[in-house]
Amino acid sequence: MFQKDLFQGRAIFITGGGTGLGRSMALRLAELGARMFLIGRREEPLRETCEEIHRAGGAAAYATCDVRDFAAVDAVAGKAEQQFGRIDSLINNAAGNFIARTEKLSPNAFNAVVSIVLNGTFHCTQAFARRWIAAKEAGNVLNIVATYAAANCGSGFVVPSACAKAGVLAMTRSLAVEWAPYRIRLNAIAPGPFPTEGAWSRLMPSEQFEQHARDAHPMKRFGRHEELANLAAFLLSEQAEYINGECVVIDGGLWLRGAGEFNDLLGLPDGAWAAMEAARVKKGG
Ligand code: HXC
Ligand code: NAP
Repeated sequence: MFQKDLFQGRAIFITGGGTGLGRSMALRLAELGARMFLIGRREEPLRETCEEIHRAGGAAAYATCDVRDFAAVDAVAGKAEQQFGRIDSLINNAAGNFIARTEKLSPNAFNAVVSIVLNGTFHCTQAFARRWIAAKEAGNVLNIVATYAAANCGSGFVVPSACAKAGVLAMTRSLAVEWAPYRIRLNAIAPGPFPTEGAWSRLMPSEQFEQHARDAHPMKRFGRHEELANLAAFLLSEQAEYINGECVVIDGGLWLRGAGEFNDLLGLPDGAWAAMEAARVKKGG
């Protein structure tokens, strides 16, 4: 399905590319021929991921950068262009998140998450779009959001993230229209639960909660990184050129399960169903 040279000649900039899902996307896209430019705040994971790409025969480079700082983002966008000639795609994957009771949050805690997720995404998007528009070149933006943004339902206990991701989705859809004349398309992916050190250490309060999360999932499993990386590859590929302003949920049906009024009947044992069915047959004669 994915040809080995699908991304030949392409160059992709990814934020948070040294860890978790960003790392998995970087490795997969490099495997498909893309030259990858990775950024994040810590050097070590970026260097390690680039080395792994090089060992596999791919092309990658990195720079440390905090996406909250527009001047730093703009400088690193220039550096990436110097490295690869032209960057044609941007993946806004960097994020901050934690679980907390909202009434206990400090203004700085709210701001820390919103400025990484929402402002950071805006900074990177604008830095590259300005370049693409000035050079009259097409561009591609993929934003990683969350199902609580895609489903328009929000979520308690992760309110800064829910607010910021909803903002990123609004940005995706707004700019998909505004910048379509420039041949810049923007899409989003809303992942369900995908085990990563970054997310799990901050969002899974205990092993029991993790077990509960798995049991409550309609497919009884979490996502596999390659599933998300392949979706990203499709959305960034030329095959998806007419997909613009879309948000694709990849969660095994989890949010739909949460939304349906009777979905908790998933927990009803077979015996109880059999008894109800038998009673109905008797009544009906
Ligand atoms: C309450 C908290 C907190 C917590 C930090 N703060 N952690 N408040 N509960 N658990 C507060 C601090 O006290 C401080 O406020 C403010 O937030 C900023 O904290 P810093 O540590 O100074 O910020 P910073 O170093 O910028 O770190 C940002 C961060 C951190 C977001 C707080 O967690 C981070 O770097 N995260 C990056 C990686 C990450 O979060 N990955 C998970 C993505 S998963 P005061 O007032 O004390 O100064 C994801 C999944 C979504 O998004 C969907 C899952 C299904
Ligand atoms: P992760 O490994 O913690 O990824 C977050 C990345 O963002 C890290 O590499 C981090 O690197 C970088 N980052 C954070 N703040 C930054 C900043 N200010 N400037 C530059 N880079 C910064 O977690 P993940 O689970 O892979 O998350 C990746 C994306 O998927 C996020 O957008 C997240 O919201 C989304 N998501 C994940 C899940 C899941 O279940 N895992 C579910 C839904 C959505 P540094 O700390 O070195 O900067």
